[in-house]
Amino acid sequence: MAILITGGAGYIGSHTMVELLEAGRELVVVDNFVNSKAESLKRVKQITGKDFKFYEVDLLDYDALNKVFEENDIDSCIHFAGLKAVGESCSKPLLYYHNNITGTLNLCDIMQKHGAKRIVFSSSATVYGNPASVPITEDFPLSTTNPYGETKLTIERILKDLHAADNEWSVSILRYFNPIGAHKSGLIGEDPQGIPNNLLPYITQVASGRRECLSVFGNDYKTHDGTGVRDYIHVVDLAKAHLKAIERAETVTGVEHFNIGTGVGYSVLDIVKAYEKATGITINYKITARRPGDIDECYANPTKALNVLSWKAENNIEDMCRDSYNWQIKNPNGYEA
Ligand code: NAD
Ligand code: WQD
Repeated sequence: MAILITGGAGYIGSHTMVELLEAGRELVVVDNFVNSKAESLKRVKQITGKDFKFYEVDLLDYDALNKVFEENDIDSCIHFAGLKAVGESCSKPLLYYHNNITGTLNLCDIMQKHGAKRIVFSSSATVYGNPASVPITEDFPLSTTNPYGETKLTIERILKDLHAADNEWSVSILRYFNPIGAHKSGLIGEDPQGIPNNLLPYITQVASGRRECLSVFGNDYKTHDGTGVRDYIHVVDLAKAHLKAIERAETVTGVEHFNIGTGVGYSVLDIVKAYEKATGITINYKITARRPGDIDECYANPTKALNVLSWKAENNIEDMCRDSYNWQIKNPNGYEA
């Protein structure tokens, strides 16, 4: 039986594929390359020496997705496919709602039809909105501040309702904190299109000379140095959590939520320092205005993932910075030749 990976060509999907293939799992992968390149899948094969079936399919194309299930014995799915840029979701809300929610509705309907009732879903710490305190546990109140976050929260609710209607479903909701870093081989990593929105890809491009200076968005937050604090997690640790989640979903039915973070918060300036230490390169930065919508602090209590999934993050912040840089210098233009 195979695991369907939606969005497998993307940043987190490609790293997860490596872990699953190395664990001997059979994979079927779909992606429409809206935010990725086919080259990442070639690199996954290069790292693992393993093969998998791939379909260039949009989750919005019901018939094409259904055919993937007709042609393969799929019993479970790790569902990464979705649009993820917070700012773009505010300017194009309908695109985000349609792609992320309709795509998931199609997927779940087809899974149900084919008796594949096991799903691991890529949710996000964004569903905690602006938390009243940190660290965050899974039972914190949920809210969102942008259409992207709204799609994650809505999909979480859809999956809960699906299980309530048919308790054969096994639903594992992974709420990722801030994934960064890259595979140690330097063959796969994050490949943002245009100017990076997120901190680490931006710093990495400053380090490599592709951008001049990092703008630190505000230094008057209620944190130890005034800059925003987040829970950065190595993408390979995150990828490993998916293997644990699938193994768990194979043994239990129900709906479970897990924070996937390290439990440690770092400020923007802590990250600049860690990056400099890991690489020996000075990062030029300037303090600028706050970015609308940003919060002071966000970090996980990941104890539930440890207790239930036997998972915990193993890489430290310097590993994350070093591996980001290694990917960048080996691939100065990402997956572009
Ligand atoms: P990514 O953009 O690199 O990967 C997503 C993949 O899905 C891409 O390859 C894209 O082409 C594909 N895709 C999008 N819409 C599709 C559709 N309709 N049909 C088929 N393929 C489609 O993003 P990522 O960072 O790997 O994130 C993976 C998942 O994790 C996303 O759902 C994202 O929202 C979630 N997430 C990401 C982060 C993060 O910071 N990277 C944090 C929390 C949650
Ligand atoms: C981190 C910190 C910024 C860029 C986002 C999404 C979230 C999730 C993960 C998907 C903040 C500061 C950033 C820069 C800066 N994605 N910063 N200069 O905002 O915590 O989370 O990605 O689910 O939903 O919102 O991550 O990397 O953008 O920012 O000073 O050029 O770095 O203000 O404090 P964020 P980020």
